[in-house]
Amino acid sequence: MGSLEAESISACITDPPYNYEFVGHKWDAEEIKRRTERVKGASSRTLVKNNPYGSGLAGGVRNKRWYQRVQENILDYSEWCFEWGQQVFRVLKPGGMIAVFNSTRTMAHVQVALERAGFYTRDCIVYRRHSGIPKGLNLGAKLKQLNHPDHAQWEGWHSCLRNEWEAIVILQKPLDQNYITTFLKNEIGLFYTLNADHSFQSNIIENIPREPEEAFNVHCTVKPLPLMEKLITLMVPPSEKHIVLDPFAGSGTTLVAAKKLHRSYIGIEIVPEYIGIIQQRLAQVDSVQHQKPSSNTHPYTLPLFE
Ligand SMILES: C[S@@+](CC[C@H](N)C(=O)[O-])C[C@H]1O[C@@H](n2cnc3c(N)ncnc32)[C@H](O)[C@@H]1O
Repeated sequence: MGSLEAESISACITDPPYNYEFVGHKWDAEEIKRRTERVKGASSRTLVKNNPYGSGLAGGVRNKRWYQRVQENILDYSEWCFEWGQQVFRVLKPGGMIAVFNSTRTMAHVQVALERAGFYTRDCIVYRRHSGIPKGLNLGAKLKQLNHPDHAQWEGWHSCLRNEWEAIVILQKPLDQNYITTFLKNEIGLFYTLNADHSFQSNIIENIPREPEEAFNVHCTVKPLPLMEKLITLMVPPSEKHIVLDPFAGSGTTLVAAKKLHRSYIGIEIVPEYIGIIQQRLAQVDSVQHQKPSSNTHPYTLPLFE
């Protein structure tokens, strides 16, 4: 990001590693394969069990040391968000918005880190999606397993709630005086709130259709393309002069959405294996959109940083 020109980007829409993916470990397809193969009969449960200690998802006795490590871990994560947040702040135009996906447990830390970097908080969008039964402690079942005489009485008691939404924290670089001045200069700073059914967009996004998975896309946390299209429509006016930045591109869903919607885009991804996936996905947009030769024509727009 250091090589990007200051105040050149209209919006940053990104899905960074959530804290449990962060803890100093690689959290990519290769790492998942290594962990699952390490344990015979591995399942997703094993994977969760093998999350780094201190992440809050790993097991372990909840002693003082455990809580201390969790706390150190979240402070490290917050510091890391502050570091990249400062860079995003520098490259965004005044009034430019940043939308960051995060878990319900860590979103506050991301928000505060970005505020420290200079942004001010606008909102938090609830991305509501379906979820299964959580893997935490099911007290009734556990007591039954332990032959506890009162196990039936404790049915329904669980260590966590069903996690049905992800947070998208929305912050904004300070305006150039006010909304109108900012808008007249760069056409940014506002939300597009008119839905197809003429309703006013709320801060809950739901009913996003599931799409068939692309076999070549082995990334483990791919966001739905219609969701990323929704966010771009919401935050970036429809013109190729607007550049959308995703510094944690993953398999490139933000970039694909930007390209489909004729916004320019810049993606950054640290895992070389994912670059090919992103390029393949972007090439598919070209093959579908015959009417436009390329949407990636802005002089500041780089196809991708590795
Ligand atoms: C949650 S994933 C993003 C997934 C993406 N939304 C998608 O739909 O494919 C986060 C990505 O950030 C990448 N990443 C982690 N640290 C990074 C860094 N310092 N610089 C660039 N990318 C990084 C990871 O390799 C991972 O692919």
